[in-house]
Amino acid sequence: NFTPNAFVEDCIKELQEKVKDDKVVLGLSGGVDSTVAAVLLHKAIGKNLYCIFVNNGLLRKNEFENVLHQYKDMGLNVKGVDATARFMNALEGVEDPETKRKAIGNAFIEVFDEEAHRIEDVKWLAQGTIYPDVIESVSVKGPSATIKSHHNVGGLPDYMKLQIVEPLRMLFKDEVRRVGRTLGIDPELLGRHPFPGPGLSIRILGAITPEKVRILQDVDAVFINGLKEHGLYDKVWQAGAILLPVNSVGVMGDERTYEKVVALRAVESTDGMTADWVHLPYDFLMKISNEIINKVKGVNRVVYDISSKPPATIEWE
Ligand code: XMP
Repeated sequence: NFTPNAFVEDCIKELQEKVKDDKVVLGLSGGVDSTVAAVLLHKAIGKNLYCIFVNNGLLRKNEFENVLHQYKDMGLNVKGVDATARFMNALEGVEDPETKRKAIGNAFIEVFDEEAHRIEDVKWLAQGTIYPDVIESVSVKGPSATIKSHHNVGGLPDYMKLQIVEPLRMLFKDEVRRVGRTLGIDPELLGRHPFPGPGLSIRILGAITPEKVRILQDVDAVFINGLKEHGLYDKVWQAGAILLPVNSVGVMGDERTYEKVVALRAVESTDGMTADWVHLPYDFLMKISNEIINKVKGVNRVVYDISSKPPATIEWE
């Protein structure tokens, strides 16, 4: 029987014994796991924990600024690094989903590596790996077909020669949330939907441009804020919008338009391995669709994804 209080106490002691007076670097993602790992380490070793939060330019609208602010308020020793241009460069002209993941994974490693090297004498790399990641990365590496390479598992290049510390490696997601609550982390942060490491890049089908990122961020913000305002956010496991690589004909006033189509996706799931689409109320969908088309320039059509996993996946790429 898992008791978060006892876990926190034991974990902090273990971390202190393991890491002693060494410096530790950790990459924050804005997600639950890396945040909880950071707060545990912060309690254990204070300012010897150096956090790095990278903006890949593919986060949700205003997310980088908001979350960075939140981290600072929590007292974490965090450096925000805006590497948008670098990621956009790495992604230029890339259409294939797996190539996108690799390009983003490599760019992340480069940026993180550069930043980690600035920390004098750092000895440890902390990661928010949880038990299902451990299992999954074993199966991903196995011979039985990589379905999607999850770039955030698998770690950093060998030459970094850092020792790894993973305080959450034995925990399931719900246990991580309970630990987070015990640590006093903002419930809103703990209740956040999962968000993929490659971010919006795998929700923009085909090649990525800054304009497409802008459109999708705006669409996504309308959808996610709408879910929150209507008390639906916590009833959904994950939600987001997808920018399709097609234009469709529409009409505005006397004018014919020829603009982008977006798909909305909301799923129920326990672990992301299987998922059902959520029966969002028609009234809500109607309102959101109108709001998107009225507010977001460049979009004239909204569709709702009614596919379950399997055979569809949650993400479209
Ligand atoms: P799929 O699309 O495989 O997604 O049904 C299952 C869960 O995994 C997330 N996902 C990713 N997360 N890097 C990540 O960190 C990735 O490359 C990636 N691909 C999918 C997805 O958002 C969902 O929660």
